[in-house]
Amino acid sequence: MKDELRKTYTSANKAAWNASASLHSSGERWKLLLEEASRPGFSVLDEHLIATLKRMDFKGKTAVQIGCNNARELLSLASLGIRPALGIDQSGEFLAQARQLADAAGLALRFLEADVYDLPEDVGSYDLALITIGVLNWMPDLFGFFRIVAGLLKPGGALVIYETHPFLEMFDPDSKTPYEPSFSYFDRRPQVVSDAISYDGKNHGKGETGYWFIHSLGDIVSAAAASGLQIIELKEYGHSIREPEYDLYENRDAQVPMSYCLVAAKP
Ligand SMILES: C[S@@+](CC[C@H](N)C(=O)[O-])C[C@H]1O[C@@H](n2cnc3c(N)ncnc32)[C@H](O)[C@@H]1O
Repeated sequence: MKDELRKTYTSANKAAWNASASLHSSGERWKLLLEEASRPGFSVLDEHLIATLKRMDFKGKTAVQIGCNNARELLSLASLGIRPALGIDQSGEFLAQARQLADAAGLALRFLEADVYDLPEDVGSYDLALITIGVLNWMPDLFGFFRIVAGLLKPGGALVIYETHPFLEMFDPDSKTPYEPSFSYFDRRPQVVSDAISYDGKNHGKGETGYWFIHSLGDIVSAAAASGLQIIELKEYGHSIREPEYDLYENRDAQVPMSYCLVAAKP
């Protein structure tokens, strides 16, 4: 993809996330998160991600999170003895929330406001690169993305992605027929997002227009492998890590994949 076109999408997405930020830093949910962050052992990580990270033993090692948002997950790594070192996000508004949470947690780390496709040369290298739910689909060019992510790792370091399963992206829980696929698994056109971005399942009206990209699991693994990373493990799960409206796909006899964890190492 041409740099200029990619930038058109990422700039729009930056505006969309910044415009939605205030929805995430008000109300009881935010107050509770700030309180929880100030307690020793703060963690929002679930048992699956914790088990993966513990198995790999990153104790005392440094971590970078790409698309860290308010950094609740990055800060949670400290509860496993991992050192949160750098959070990268292009939304300055969300990084302001991240700084508040880091202060509450008493953790000193760097936050970098940047488009991941356009990182400064002195960004550094880390033992663990973490990507969690809701990041890959904002990326217009997966091959370019993974090249950059691989560049953030030290030799011997590892990438851990814990994301929505691409198969789940075919379904729209708000559709009249939510169990019928609404989107083609193979549609590579940008999907226009015009609603304000929130996680609470409520409709907050229109926001700034952003662009969302459907990537298949094959695309994701191929792009990771092409960046020179070695695929170590790909686990698919039937549990949801999505907003509450996706709960209707969970705990069914004929279970669809809802999330996955990909681990890849830098030789
Ligand atoms: C869904 S949020 C991540 C939420 C996080 N996993 C959590 O559960 O708290 C996605 C984040 O990716 C960031 N993002 C999207 N495109 C980006 C880009 N090109 N460069 C850097 N950050 C980007 C957005 O600003 C947003 O904060």
